Amino acid sequence: MKIAILGGTGDLGKGLALRLAKNNEVLIGSREKEKAERLASEYREEGKKFGLDLKLTGFTNQEAIDNSERIIISVPYVVLPQFLLTLKNYEGKLFISPVVPMVKTKAGFSYEPFRLGDKEVSAAELIKSTLGGARVASAFHTVPAMKLSDLSFKLDYDVLVAADELETFEEVSQIVSSIEGLKPFYAGKLYTSKYLESLTPLLLNVAINNKLHTPSIKIV
Ligand SMILES: NC(=O)c1ccc[n+]([C@@H]2O[C@H](COP(=O)([O-])OP(=O)(O)OC[C@H]3O[C@@H](n4cnc5c(N)ncnc54)[C@H](OP(=O)(O)O)[C@@H]3O)[C@@H](O)[C@H]2O)c1
Repeated sequence: MKIAILGGTGDLGKGLALRLAKNNEVLIGSREKEKAERLASEYREEGKKFGLDLKLTGFTNQEAIDNSERIIISVPYVVLPQFLLTLKNYEGKLFISPVVPMVKTKAGFSYEPFRLGDKEVSAAELIKSTLGGARVASAFHTVPAMKLSDLSFKLDYDVLVAADELETFEEVSQIVSSIEGLKPFYAGKLYTSKYLESLTPLLLNVAINNKLHTPSIKIV
């Protein structure tokens, strides 16, 4: 499969790129094409250390969208509303959101949904509402970038996925399952994304209060 990662130069983007490019063709997107090309080359070199011939190339974010039907949006939540407004040619394409809107306070981490008028919405719902005609799913929120980026680490996590259509979930499932050690579960329609997104601040609070590092989830 061909999969684009917008903001593929960041922490989560790197981890997903390194893992996905083993069995897929990954297009790294960035605001700067040269940065994307440089990092794609660095990721390929990282793969070689583990005997992997990773299929990775660098593009601008828009070029990455133009050249793929499946797109992961991996940018910080604070920039998401403005970033979405810059995108074109998204109709009919699948957008996957790992975006977690959360803030750190003295008390710990807290989920901070977006607002559309007087309604609170999750990051995935904001994407669906802004990119009219795109298909949107929510996934990967609880997978730590540090563990994805460490190719010596054997992953064993579950990934909860929200999507309005079952076919969209199945398509995302294929992407999740193409990473060894990740197992997809259907959480429900896109409105459930707020529960998935709020798992990350919950896990981070558990980590702080119990001195854990990079916790994730597994359904038992
Ligand atoms: N880190 C994790 O472990 C983790 C886990 C689960 C979910 N997430 C979610 O995944 C998303 C990415 O997290 P991250 O830690 O990878 O973020 P990050 O490293 O801080 O940023 C990712 C990329 O976003 C791009 N970016 C920054 N400002 C931008 C702007 N104003 N407009 C457009 N692009 C911009 C940058 O790419 P260029 O400079 O190349 O354009 C950057 O490399 C977040 O929404 C986060 O909540 C993260």
